[in-house]
Amino acid sequence: GRLEESVYPLFYGWFLTHKSQSRTKETGKKLLETLGELDEFKEHWGDFGGAASEKGINLEEYFDGKGGILHCTTKFSDYGKATGAQEYAELEAVKEFYSSAFHLQISGLFITPRTAGARVRLSDKQLEVWPADSEKEASLSEELPRGSRAHITLGCAKDVEPVQTGLDLLEFIKMEKEGDQDWAVKDTDQGKLCYFGKGMWMLELSEEVTVETIFGGFYP
Ligand code: A2P
Repeated sequence: GRLEESVYPLFYGWFLTHKSQSRTKETGKKLLETLGELDEFKEHWGDFGGAASEKGINLEEYFDGKGGILHCTTKFSDYGKATGAQEYAELEAVKEFYSSAFHLQISGLFITPRTAGARVRLSDKQLEVWPADSEKEASLSEELPRGSRAHITLGCAKDVEPVQTGLDLLEFIKMEKEGDQDWAVKDTDQGKLCYFGKGMWMLELSEEVTVETIFGGFYP
């Protein structure tokens, strides 16, 4: 029969189709390979703690934590327990777009000693289902544009939770904002690679990657 009460998911987001998942994983893998062979990266192995051997770091092994379907989280609602979970479920745009297909634009890829992720550039329509307080909740000191935190987690280091990926992305964006210095390290065939210190590397893709997704909720 019909449920009397709403059932809330663990989180809402855009879920990549099977084909887009393979493509995105491939793009991420290519970055890890490029980085692994780069002299500039080798100079900063120390950023990754004890993970580097004489031959270097196996980045694919380093980021093998937390698998699952690739997605861009909009709202972590924790089965209705998270702050604002019920209000989010009631948003007109959330109800209207639920189960709809969207193209997401990946504008960059990044790694830190904690996470590997893809930076997502949201359209105005996509921002309609982006929670108003997502950036504020994560960065106490600064106002960052809505949607700054949008990302797809590609991998996590051992004992790191995926929520960290969005926080790492916000740290990149803060540094970009403050940066009066040119961080570019190298032009690769994928785009401009920038080093921000402390093991933080960002590849600005010269051509954005478009991925097919479905907006919905995840109820494990
Ligand atoms: P992300 O979106 O960065 O990948 P978990 O497996 O830890 O329960 O998390 C499920 C999903 O929800 C993950 O995709 C995760 O991170 C995201 N997530 C977990 N906690 C939060 C949070 N507090 N705020 C925003 N997103 C979260």
